[in-house]
Amino acid sequence: MSSKLPPPGQPVLRVRGVSHYFGTGDTRTQVLFDNTLEVMPGELVIMSGPSGSGKTTILTLIGGLRTLQEGEIEVWDADRGDYRTLRGVSESDLVNVRRLIGFIFQRHNLFDSLTALQNIRMAQRLRANGPSDPDADARALLTYLLLGETDIQGKPQKPRFDYKPAALSGGQRQRVAIARALVNRPKLVLADEPTAALDANSGLAVVTLVQQLARPRPEADLSKLVRSAAEAGENGRLADWQIPLLKAVANEHGTTSLIVTHDARIMNLADRIVHMERGRIESNVVVAERLFVREGLRQSPAFAAILPEEQEKIADAVLVGVHPDEAVRPDQLTGKSGRLEVYGPGETIVREGDSVNESSKFYLIRRGTVEVLRADGGAPKKLTEMGPGRYFGEVALLMNQPRNATVRALSRVEVYTVNRATFDQFRDVSRPFIDRVLANFRAGGA
Ligand SMILES: Nc1ncnc2c1ncn2[C@@H]1O[C@H](COP(=O)(O)OP(=O)(O)OP(=O)(O)O)[C@@H](O)[C@H]1O
Ligand SMILES: [Mg+2]
Repeated sequence: MSSKLPPPGQPVLRVRGVSHYFGTGDTRTQVLFDNTLEVMPGELVIMSGPSGSGKTTILTLIGGLRTLQEGEIEVWDADRGDYRTLRGVSESDLVNVRRLIGFIFQRHNLFDSLTALQNIRMAQRLRANGPSDPDADARALLTYLLLGETDIQGKPQKPRFDYKPAALSGGQRQRVAIARALVNRPKLVLADEPTAALDANSGLAVVTLVQQLARPRPEADLSKLVRSAAEAGENGRLADWQIPLLKAVANEHGTTSLIVTHDARIMNLADRIVHMERGRIESNVVVAERLFVREGLRQSPAFAAILPEEQEKIADAVLVGVHPDEAVRPDQLTGKSGRLEVYGPGETIVREGDSVNESSKFYLIRRGTVEVLRADGGAPKKLTEMGPGRYFGEVALLMNQPRNATVRALSRVEVYTVNRATFDQFRDVSRPFIDRVLANFRAGGA
């Protein structure tokens, strides 16, 4: 078996136009409305939203646990090197999709007649590059999740390997279910409130494991999570003996996770945060992209003086939902997110002497390099080159005068744009600050 990634820039999970209805006839109610979502390889995606907003429904549709009524869902099958569709397929095809996925649900469906260890052992499949000793692997997972012979303080405890579900606490059952969901190291994990029933220590163990399966963390980051000898109780720490076990059980990486949670510890690790309201994905934010845009805006005098909440709003209004390390695809530029412009090498983005009007913009470079040229009546001279994170176009907007330079793409360039109306909205707030900057600017003679 080979294990292939999707083609570059393509997601592992694609949800398009998904709607869903419960009931029939008069009681038929729509609970999901035209949802679209893409998840990239290795991403850790958090889904949030109020109770009843449709999180569990969309998760069960993605997992093939419910029949898809409207729209399309495709899941990448690494072994086949192709997508599997969930629309209109037979039960046996659905089973094949479910095999690709590790489910962590609140109703964990452990077998009552089997022990904790047996529940995991029966889920284990023969895999290429799987563990040489599957029994030891299952025990290692349970031990890491604090159900083995050692407690969080490093003291011996009664292992729960041979307990049946009825003899386990809710949180212990949940951890057995998590071990079972992860034992085949699935490339896609779907989890619905995985840590809700857990105390801080075992919750952190779960969160760290999910993240380590996505990508390995530097040693220094891991050691920050370890409790010191002086610490005790439920403070949300790992024990030092858990670290080598974590590395042993999470020796494969690249797992993509979609997790419904309100747990701040998981939120902090998210690569993408998807928020649902009344059956709709209301926002879909790539955390790294949001930080990139906010940082870029903060550098500009036009936005530096406004409140962080306002900076946040402007930043979120221009996001396209793609990590700044990745180029956008043409199909990602359409729709309400289309505040991004793409220029080819040699294309002019702003032209010296052009007057500013309602359609004039402020630009933040997302990818690529531009050159800044000024002619001032004579032959154009190159002033500088600028790359990702740098901005241009604000001087003309602030001073309400023609563009004082030409900006031209040197490579394929992607720029976030903020329009004149948004820009002007914050002009008054930022006025004193802007005046200071402009005074310097004029003194500089530019
Ligand atoms: N089997 C069902 N039959 C009818 N309506 C249902 C069914 N399952 C869910 N619903 C309705 O669909 C809507 C979405 O439910 P869902 O379970 O997806 O919400 P949720 O976002 O997971 O909420 P929570 O945070 O409380 O788990 C709710 O209004 C719910 O009442
Ligand atoms: Mg739910």
